[in-house]
Amino acid sequence: MIRLGVNIDHVATLRNARGESYPNPVQFAALAELGGADNITCHLREDRRHIKDQDVQLLKQTINIPLNFEMAATDEMIDFALAIKPQAVTLVPERREELTTEGGLDVANQLPRLQEAMERFAKDGIFVALFVDPEPKMIQLTKELGAQAVELHTGALCHQLTDCRSEKEALERVAPFVEAAQRACELGLSVHVGHGLNYHNAWILKEIPHLEEANIGHSIVAKALAVGFVQAVSEMKALLERAGS
Ligand code: PXP
Repeated sequence: MIRLGVNIDHVATLRNARGESYPNPVQFAALAELGGADNITCHLREDRRHIKDQDVQLLKQTINIPLNFEMAATDEMIDFALAIKPQAVTLVPERREELTTEGGLDVANQLPRLQEAMERFAKDGIFVALFVDPEPKMIQLTKELGAQAVELHTGALCHQLTDCRSEKEALERVAPFVEAAQRACELGLSVHVGHGLNYHNAWILKEIPHLEEANIGHSIVAKALAVGFVQAVSEMKALLERAGS
Protein backbone atom coordinates (compact mmCIF):
# COMPACT_ATOMS: atom_id res chain seq x y z
CA MET A 1 0.00 0.00 0.00
CA ILE A 2 1.26 3.47 -0.82
CA ARG A 3 0.12 6.03 1.74
CA LEU A 4 -1.30 9.28 0.41
CA GLY A 5 -0.02 12.44 2.06
CA VAL A 6 -2.24 15.33 0.98
CA ASN A 7 -0.35 18.61 0.78
CA ILE A 8 -2.75 21.46 1.60
CA ASP A 9 -0.40 24.39 0.91
CA HIS A 10 -2.36 25.54 -2.12
CA VAL A 11 -5.59 25.85 -0.19
CA ALA A 12 -3.70 28.47 1.81
CA THR A 13 -2.32 30.01 -1.41
CA LEU A 14 -5.91 30.68 -2.53
CA ARG A 15 -6.89 32.06 0.87
CA ASN A 16 -3.90 34.39 0.99
CA ALA A 17 -4.48 35.68 -2.57
CA ARG A 18 -7.34 37.75 -1.15
CA GLY A 19 -6.20 38.08 2.45
CA GLU A 20 -9.41 36.33 3.54
CA SER A 21 -9.94 33.64 6.17
CA TYR A 22 -11.24 31.16 3.55
CA PRO A 23 -10.68 28.63 2.11
CA ASN A 24 -9.30 27.37 5.41
CA PRO A 25 -6.56 24.74 5.04
CA VAL A 26 -7.41 23.27 8.43
CA GLN A 27 -10.99 22.56 7.30
CA PHE A 28 -9.69 21.12 4.05
CA ALA A 29 -7.36 18.83 5.97
CA ALA A 30 -10.46 17.36 7.62
CA LEU A 31 -12.00 16.88 4.16
CA ALA A 32 -8.79 15.19 2.98
CA GLU A 33 -9.19 12.74 5.87
CA LEU A 34 -12.74 12.03 4.69
CA GLY A 35 -11.42 11.37 1.18
CA GLY A 36 -8.97 8.78 2.50
CA ALA A 37 -5.75 10.75 3.07
CA ASP A 38 -3.25 8.90 5.25
CA ASN A 39 -1.49 12.02 6.41
CA ILE A 40 -1.53 15.77 5.95
CA THR A 41 1.51 17.56 4.60
CA CYS A 42 2.22 21.27 4.79
CA HIS A 43 5.26 23.45 4.21
CA LEU A 44 5.80 26.51 6.36
CA ARG A 45 8.07 28.63 4.21
CA GLU A 46 10.29 31.38 5.52
CA ASP A 47 8.18 33.98 3.63
CA ARG A 48 4.85 32.41 4.85
CA ARG A 49 3.54 32.64 1.29
CA HIS A 50 0.91 29.96 1.88
CA ILE A 51 0.78 28.09 5.20
CA LYS A 52 1.05 30.28 8.31
CA ASP A 53 2.26 29.41 11.80
CA GLN A 54 -1.26 29.26 13.21
CA ASP A 55 -2.38 26.83 10.48
CA VAL A 56 0.29 24.36 11.56
CA GLN A 57 -0.64 24.73 15.23
CA LEU A 58 -4.33 24.13 14.46
CA LEU A 59 -3.57 21.21 12.15
CA LYS A 60 -1.55 19.47 14.83
CA GLN A 61 -4.38 19.97 17.33
CA THR A 62 -7.25 18.92 15.10
CA ILE A 63 -6.33 16.29 12.53
CA ASN A 64 -6.73 12.60 13.35
CA ILE A 65 -3.98 11.44 10.98
CA PRO A 66 -0.25 12.17 11.15
CA LEU A 67 1.11 15.60 10.26
CA ASN A 68 4.13 15.67 7.94
CA PHE A 69 5.76 19.07 8.39
CA GLU A 70 7.96 20.19 5.49
CA MET A 71 10.58 22.74 6.43
CA ALA A 72 13.99 24.17 5.69
CA ALA A 73 16.66 23.24 8.25
CA THR A 74 16.88 26.75 9.72
CA ASP A 75 17.06 27.48 13.46
CA GLU A 76 13.69 29.24 13.30
CA MET A 77 11.97 26.24 11.71
CA ILE A 78 13.66 23.66 13.91
CA ASP A 79 12.52 25.56 17.04
CA PHE A 80 9.01 25.82 15.61
CA ALA A 81 8.83 22.12 14.72
CA LEU A 82 10.07 21.06 18.14
CA ALA A 83 7.34 23.17 19.74
CA ILE A 84 4.62 21.69 17.49
CA LYS A 85 5.92 18.10 17.56
CA PRO A 86 4.57 16.81 14.24
CA GLN A 87 4.67 13.05 13.72
CA ALA A 88 7.09 13.54 10.83
CA VAL A 89 9.34 16.23 9.42
CA THR A 90 10.57 16.42 5.83
CA LEU A 91 13.63 18.61 5.38
CA VAL A 92 13.55 20.49 2.08
CA PRO A 93 15.74 23.13 0.42
CA GLU A 94 14.24 26.59 0.23
CA ARG A 95 15.04 29.63 -1.85
CA ARG A 96 12.91 32.73 -1.48
CA GLU A 97 12.72 33.43 -5.23
CA GLU A 98 11.64 29.94 -6.32
CA LEU A 99 8.06 29.23 -7.42
CA THR A 100 8.08 25.91 -5.59
CA THR A 101 10.73 23.53 -4.22
CA GLU A 102 13.06 23.24 -7.22
CA GLY A 103 15.47 20.36 -6.73
CA GLY A 104 16.34 18.17 -3.78
CA LEU A 105 18.48 19.01 -0.77
CA ASP A 106 22.17 19.33 -1.48
CA VAL A 107 22.97 17.15 1.50
CA ALA A 108 26.72 17.00 0.86
CA ASN A 109 27.11 20.78 1.10
CA GLN A 110 25.06 21.23 4.26
CA LEU A 111 26.25 18.39 6.44
CA PRO A 112 26.90 20.34 9.69
CA ARG A 113 23.53 22.13 9.49
CA LEU A 114 21.62 18.94 8.73
CA GLN A 115 23.53 17.04 11.40
CA GLU A 116 22.51 19.57 14.02
CA ALA A 117 18.88 19.41 12.90
CA MET A 118 18.92 15.61 12.96
CA GLU A 119 20.36 15.54 16.48
CA ARG A 120 17.67 17.88 17.77
CA PHE A 121 14.87 15.87 16.16
CA ALA A 122 16.33 12.56 17.34
CA LYS A 123 16.17 13.77 20.96
CA ASP A 124 12.39 14.20 20.57
CA GLY A 125 11.95 10.97 18.60
CA ILE A 126 10.62 12.76 15.51
CA PHE A 127 10.62 10.78 12.26
CA VAL A 128 12.69 12.64 9.65
CA ALA A 129 12.75 12.34 5.87
CA LEU A 130 15.19 14.17 3.60
CA PHE A 131 13.87 15.41 0.26
CA VAL A 132 16.55 14.52 -2.29
CA ASP A 133 17.10 13.82 -5.95
CA PRO A 134 17.49 10.12 -6.83
CA GLU A 135 21.28 10.08 -6.63
CA PRO A 136 23.20 7.27 -4.87
CA LYS A 137 25.34 9.75 -2.90
CA MET A 138 22.26 11.55 -1.53
CA ILE A 139 20.67 8.28 -0.44
CA GLN A 140 23.87 7.22 1.32
CA LEU A 141 24.23 10.56 3.12
CA THR A 142 20.57 10.47 4.16
CA LYS A 143 21.28 7.20 5.89
CA GLU A 144 24.53 8.42 7.45
CA LEU A 145 22.77 11.45 8.88
CA GLY A 146 20.37 9.15 10.71
CA ALA A 147 17.15 10.00 8.85
CA GLN A 148 14.39 7.40 8.80
CA ALA A 149 13.20 8.09 5.26
CA VAL A 150 14.11 9.54 1.94
CA GLU A 151 11.57 11.48 -0.13
CA LEU A 152 12.61 11.25 -3.76
CA HIS A 153 11.98 14.47 -5.68
CA THR A 154 9.77 13.55 -8.65
CA GLY A 155 9.34 17.13 -9.95
CA ALA A 156 11.79 16.95 -12.86
CA LEU A 157 10.68 13.41 -13.70
CA CYS A 158 7.04 14.50 -13.93
CA HIS A 159 8.00 17.28 -16.34
CA GLN A 160 10.00 14.83 -18.48
CA LEU A 161 7.10 12.38 -18.58
CA THR A 162 4.91 14.89 -20.40
CA ASP A 163 7.36 14.73 -23.34
CA CYS A 164 7.68 10.94 -23.43
CA ARG A 165 6.17 9.35 -26.53
CA SER A 166 6.12 5.75 -25.36
CA GLU A 167 5.88 3.73 -22.18
CA LYS A 168 9.42 2.47 -22.84
CA GLU A 169 10.72 6.03 -22.89
CA ALA A 170 8.85 6.80 -19.65
CA LEU A 171 10.30 3.74 -17.95
CA GLU A 172 13.83 4.81 -18.91
CA ARG A 173 13.22 8.11 -17.10
CA VAL A 174 11.93 6.28 -14.03
CA ALA A 175 14.98 3.97 -13.86
CA PRO A 176 17.06 6.19 -11.50
CA PHE A 177 14.11 6.18 -9.06
CA VAL A 178 13.93 2.40 -9.18
CA GLU A 179 17.62 2.17 -8.31
CA ALA A 180 17.41 4.86 -5.64
CA ALA A 181 14.42 3.19 -3.98
CA GLN A 182 16.16 -0.16 -4.06
CA ARG A 183 19.29 1.26 -2.45
CA ALA A 184 17.28 3.19 0.17
CA CYS A 185 15.43 0.03 1.12
CA GLU A 186 18.71 -1.92 1.43
CA LEU A 187 19.91 0.77 3.82
CA GLY A 188 16.75 0.47 5.91
CA LEU A 189 15.24 3.79 4.83
CA SER A 190 11.54 4.24 4.14
CA VAL A 191 10.88 5.41 0.59
CA HIS A 192 8.61 8.39 -0.09
CA VAL A 193 8.10 10.42 -3.26
CA GLY A 194 6.67 13.84 -3.95
CA HIS A 195 6.35 16.79 -6.28
CA GLY A 196 4.58 17.16 -9.60
CA LEU A 197 2.55 13.98 -9.28
CA ASN A 198 -0.89 14.13 -10.87
CA TYR A 199 -3.77 11.97 -12.12
CA HIS A 200 -2.02 11.31 -15.44
CA ASN A 201 1.44 10.38 -14.22
CA ALA A 202 0.70 8.56 -10.93
CA TRP A 203 0.79 5.24 -12.83
CA ILE A 204 4.61 5.40 -12.79
CA LEU A 205 4.56 4.84 -9.02
CA LYS A 206 3.87 1.15 -9.58
CA GLU A 207 7.38 0.94 -11.09
CA ILE A 208 9.13 2.23 -7.97
CA PRO A 209 9.81 -0.61 -5.52
CA HIS A 210 9.34 -0.39 -1.74
CA LEU A 211 7.36 2.83 -2.06
CA GLU A 212 5.53 3.67 1.17
CA GLU A 213 4.25 7.22 0.73
CA ALA A 214 3.48 9.82 -1.93
CA ASN A 215 2.96 13.47 -1.00
CA ILE A 216 0.71 15.25 -3.47
CA GLY A 217 -0.82 18.71 -3.40
CA HIS A 218 -1.16 20.93 -6.43
CA SER A 219 -2.92 18.45 -8.71
CA ILE A 220 -5.42 17.48 -5.99
CA VAL A 221 -6.32 21.10 -5.20
CA ALA A 222 -6.65 21.82 -8.95
CA LYS A 223 -8.90 18.79 -9.54
CA ALA A 224 -11.00 19.78 -6.53
CA LEU A 225 -12.15 22.89 -8.43
CA ALA A 226 -13.98 20.56 -10.81
CA VAL A 227 -15.07 17.63 -8.65
CA GLY A 228 -14.79 18.78 -5.04
CA PHE A 229 -11.98 18.16 -2.56
CA VAL A 230 -13.16 14.89 -1.00
CA GLN A 231 -13.70 13.36 -4.44
CA ALA A 232 -10.33 14.63 -5.72
CA VAL A 233 -8.55 13.06 -2.74
CA SER A 234 -10.40 9.76 -3.05
CA GLU A 235 -9.62 9.52 -6.79
CA MET A 236 -5.91 10.00 -6.06
CA LYS A 237 -6.11 7.48 -3.25
CA ALA A 238 -7.62 4.95 -5.68
CA LEU A 239 -4.75 5.55 -8.14
CA LEU A 240 -2.19 4.93 -5.38
CA GLU A 241 -4.02 1.78 -4.33
CA ARG A 242 -3.78 0.53 -7.89
CA ALA A 243 -0.08 1.49 -8.15
CA GLY A 244 0.73 -0.17 -4.84
CA SER A 245 -1.03 -3.46 -5.48
N1 PXP B 1 6.84 16.92 -1.34
C1 PXP B 1 7.63 18.02 -1.12
C2 PXP B 1 8.88 17.82 -0.32
C3 PXP B 1 7.25 19.29 -1.58
O1 PXP B 1 8.05 20.35 -1.34
C4 PXP B 1 6.03 19.44 -2.26
C5 PXP B 1 5.58 20.80 -2.69
O2 PXP B 1 5.39 21.60 -1.57
C6 PXP B 1 5.24 18.29 -2.47
C7 PXP B 1 5.68 17.05 -2.01
C8 PXP B 1 3.93 18.37 -3.21
O3 PXP B 1 4.17 18.75 -4.53
P1 PXP B 1 2.93 19.06 -5.51
O4 PXP B 1 2.21 20.23 -4.92
O5 PXP B 1 3.59 19.36 -6.81
O6 PXP B 1 2.08 17.84 -5.54
